[in-house]
Amino acid sequence: MATLITEEQMREQKAYIMRLKEDNMRYAAEYGHTRRALTETYGCQQNENDTERIRGMLKEAGFEFTEDSKKADVIIYNTCAVRENAEQKVFGRLGLLKPIKERRRNMVIGVCGCMVQQEHITEKIKKSHEHVDLVFGTHALYKMPELLWKAINSKKTVIDIEDSKGAIAEDIPIMREDAKKAWVSVMYGCNNFCTYCIVPYVRGRERSRTPEAVIAEVKELVAAGCSEISLLGQNVNSYGKDLDIDIDFADLMRMVNDIEGVERIRFMTSHPKDLSDKLIETMAECDKVCKQLHLPFQAGSNKILKQMNRGYTKEEYLEKIAKVKKAIPNISLSTDVIVGFPTETNEDFEETLDVLRKVEYDNIFSFIYSRREGTPAAKLDFVLTDEEIHKNFDRLLEVQNAISLKKNKEYVGRIERILVDGASKTNPDVLSGRCDSSKIVNFKGDESLIGKYIDVRITEAHTWSLNGELVKE
Ligand code: SAH
Ligand code: SF4
Ligand code: F3S
Repeated sequence: MATLITEEQMREQKAYIMRLKEDNMRYAAEYGHTRRALTETYGCQQNENDTERIRGMLKEAGFEFTEDSKKADVIIYNTCAVRENAEQKVFGRLGLLKPIKERRRNMVIGVCGCMVQQEHITEKIKKSHEHVDLVFGTHALYKMPELLWKAINSKKTVIDIEDSKGAIAEDIPIMREDAKKAWVSVMYGCNNFCTYCIVPYVRGRERSRTPEAVIAEVKELVAAGCSEISLLGQNVNSYGKDLDIDIDFADLMRMVNDIEGVERIRFMTSHPKDLSDKLIETMAECDKVCKQLHLPFQAGSNKILKQMNRGYTKEEYLEKIAKVKKAIPNISLSTDVIVGFPTETNEDFEETLDVLRKVEYDNIFSFIYSRREGTPAAKLDFVLTDEEIHKNFDRLLEVQNAISLKKNKEYVGRIERILVDGASKTNPDVLSGRCDSSKIVNFKGDESLIGKYIDVRITEAHTWSLNGELVKE
């Protein structure tokens, strides 16, 4: 069972929050405003959720927020290590901050999250980015108040990338992005060690929060007006294995389903090898659980799956999908795919396309393999050239786009319940929301509908979104 960061340790951090706050008030008396903070997030929902905690701590410490790096007194980049381009982006950003920092010496630049949990990255920051004042890894998130205090008050770079040995910090302050939809972490870390993946190295071993802690957080959210809960973990199907009570993810899902005021439940990510019949049944039975499943298959060839250490064959995966489709007829499916794993040949890649055609996902998240230092796959030699890999990647998109459009067309004429998110990104006169299966629906409507559940008749289908019209009451 995971240990907890002690109340005493959390009190210590609270004391640092108060010190930062007093300091901010002194600062405001001098400059007319408290220090301004800017946060930027790279990576997955887990990181988005961590940034909400970072902002929660900053807010309690009296910081204001800005999106303008020229005005920011504190900048914190919460980083991702899953692919090289995410890391390059952060180094690019840090480079741009150098001249700004030269003009404003008191500014604090912080880099945290998965990327800096890798020692070679922290070394690189120390060597080539001396203008960075603060570096902390995923395990030190709860210690941010103390580390930030030290960074503000010292000339040296403050670094904390120690492993917490699996301890969980509860009750870190939080400032949520959305009033209606919230992420709730049910577990942290990953034990799967897929051979291409850095996550287990930067997030540590699997550790589950207690059901009491999860339920308390959901109830608090509902009391504050939130109604869509996304349960988060790198592999939610492992939930509870490390707890000393008999509980699994399906049980937890049912407990959340029973909470009054929760309207929708989503979850990610499920690992195919651990997707149980019980979970499928529970999904089908729980009325609030959205009929949507993200089930990454990564590659279609059994040879590649084995070399990836995924723990299932193509046939076993397809069998699980068949079970899901049978139990939940209108299920919307999505997946992650990696193209260009080092030993992948064109024949192997055909197997990936075969899975796409057989399953007919509503949408996919596809990635070109990126070599991650320290992972077993990093030692393998490539069979295909970059050009061949890119060609396969384009083909993958072509095949999937046609399937996505076909699946979206099935929605035309249906009435879908939408939680309205806000104005559409592409057209401010149009509202946008998500239906049960999480597809984006655009429609004309009044701003007063934002944050409400409404019925929309789907009139038109595109590859990545649907258009609709309000159903009059
Ligand atoms: N725990 C989740 C998500 C992990 S990261 C899961 O197992 O599904 C999200 C996705 O990034 C993975 O599913 C995988 O498709 C992709 N990914 C991970 N490592 C990668 C790498 N080295 N190169 C390219 N894509 C990678
Ligand atoms: Fe990475 Fe595999 Fe763990 Fe997902 S299950 S986080 S892909 S190691
Ligand atoms: Fe990236 Fe870390 Fe998430 S590596 S994908 S931000 S767990």
